Formats: sequence, C-alpha cells, structure tokens
Amino acid sequence: MNIQGILQKTAMAFKRCGIPSARLDAEVLLSCCLKTQRLTLYKYPGRILTDDELCRFQKLAERRRKGEPVAYIIGQKEFWSLCLKVDEHVLIPRPETECLVEEVLNTFAASFRHNLRILDVGTGSGAISIALASEIKDVRIEATDISAAALAIARENAGNNGVHESIVFHCGNMFEPVSGKFDAIVSNPPYISDEEFTHLSDGVRLYEPKEALMAGPRGTKYFSILIHEGAPFLKEDGWLFMEIGAAQRKNIEAMLIESDLYDSISFKRDYAGIDRIAKARRKTTHG
Ligand SMILES: C[S@@+](CC[C@H](N)C(=O)[O-])C[C@H]1O[C@@H](n2cnc3c(N)ncnc32)[C@H](O)[C@@H]1O
Repeated sequence: MNIQGILQKTAMAFKRCGIPSARLDAEVLLSCCLKTQRLTLYKYPGRILTDDELCRFQKLAERRRKGEPVAYIIGQKEFWSLCLKVDEHVLIPRPETECLVEEVLNTFAASFRHNLRILDVGTGSGAISIALASEIKDVRIEATDISAAALAIARENAGNNGVHESIVFHCGNMFEPVSGKFDAIVSNPPYISDEEFTHLSDGVRLYEPKEALMAGPRGTKYFSILIHEGAPFLKEDGWLFMEIGAAQRKNIEAMLIESDLYDSISFKRDYAGIDRIAKARRKTTHG
C-alpha cells in the first residue's frame, strides 16, 4: 500500500471512531512512523510502505483508534514553538497555557525588572517554565511538582531546549520545597471538579494523569492554596498568574478579593474568548 492509500484508509477508520481531526492524526502518526515531515507525505504520495513500516504504523493507528491522544503516541507536543517530550506522567500542554506565558511576558516587558525570580507551581512537562526561560534573559526559575516522574520529563525537556541552567526543579507539595521571595508565581494547577471529571472526553479522562486534572468537589482546591499560601512567597508588588477553568472566573475573583492579599486583579481571555488567566498583584503592606 502507498502513502496516499494508507492515509485515506486510516483517516476513514478514525472518522468512524468519532475522531474529529481524523486526517491530521493519520498524517502525524505516519510521519512519526516514517521519521519524516508531514510535507514529505504530500511530496511522495505514491511511495510504497515496507511491511515493517506498515506493521509499525498499524500499531500506532490502533492506539489512536482506542482513544489515546496523538501526543502520547508520538511522545511529543509542540508548545510555544518548542518541542516537548510527553508521556503518561505529564499533562499534554495546551494552547490556552500559552496565553499565561504571553501574559507574564507582557507584564514584565512593561516593568523593566531584571534578574526576575519566578516560581512555577505544578510544572508537569515544564512547559511554562521552559517557555519563559526561552524568552527572558537572566531569569531564575524554580519549578515544583508533586510527581517525580513528571519532573524527570521536565528536566529532560529543559535540557533538550537549552534552558536547564535557568530552571531548578523540586519535587514536593506546592510551596513546600521552595524558600525566599519571587517576582512572580505562575501556575496551571489541576482545576477539574469531581463532577466535571466524569464529563471529560475519554482521551483526557482515561489517559492523562488524574493528579494533573482533579481538584476536589468544586475544582478550586489548588487556587485556594495558591492564593493564600502563595502570598508570602511574593515580593511586595509581585504577581500571581493562574490558569483557570472555563466557568471559574467568578469564584476565583471572589477568592482573590476576600483574601485581601492582592490588588490589580484582572482576567485575560484565551483564543476562544474564555476567561482563562487570572492575574493579581500582591498588596504592598505599609508599616
Ligand atoms: C494541569 S497540570 C499542569 C502542567 C503544566 N504546568 C502545564 O501547564 O502543562 C498540573 C500539575 O500539577 C501537579 N500537581 C498536582 N498536585 C500538586 C501538588 N500538591 N503540588 C505540586 N504539584 C502538583 C501535577 O502533577 C501536574 O503536573
């Protein structure tokens, strides 16, 4: 069978399983299997696959048919134009999270602060830390995660992207492994409520790590910790940036206001127009 034929057949099979990005997924899996660019598939549609290539591709396609996300099958995901390794121990970085990176960069671009010290809580694959380290000169980032397996991936990603000297990774619960004061705390914490979890797509619910998703009955458990326990780790007028869930703005806004620890509270929308990033500045205490 040639490239064009196998792509058509696989895309149809994926469609029948209800996979929305059927053709794209087939192309990504085939280019991974042939260790080539997607463009090459279009250049040589008549190239015949060897038995070995066909066999390897069918194994990958079968995993996709069963619902496994493409990123886990090919072992990588693009984030902020960086290539990150992913496996079942880390959340697959999402495009929404790039809005958080963008907001942090915009905030500090205007403030002319140097030698920034940033803390990333729940770093997972290291996506946020690595993107920030690739953009900010002289930044020193500390990144925590409760999962040692996730941190192993994050360290590898930092090395592969040439920013390992800017980031120190710590294993532990939220703020427990760090000390001192930071210019910013950034976090994309777990924020799915118990109820929401039952409605997630199989691809997310069955394959992504539960500890990266679930956040108690209301989905706000980690926001409460970030807001209350994070403040002492912020320099006066340091910033807290948190990615939030689709319907969480009201709750998070109330939590930030009631804490009386922050001012300049604002929210930024993602590409779909959903309030996605909460941003707040630690209040300056006088006297
Ligand atoms: C939603 S994922 C975000 C991963 C990554 N920052 C990103 O944006 O793609 C949340 C991460 O928080 C970590 N986590 C969960 N509970 C934690 C805790 N108590 N302390 C530190 N990290 C935790 C999970 O292991 C997971 O890697």
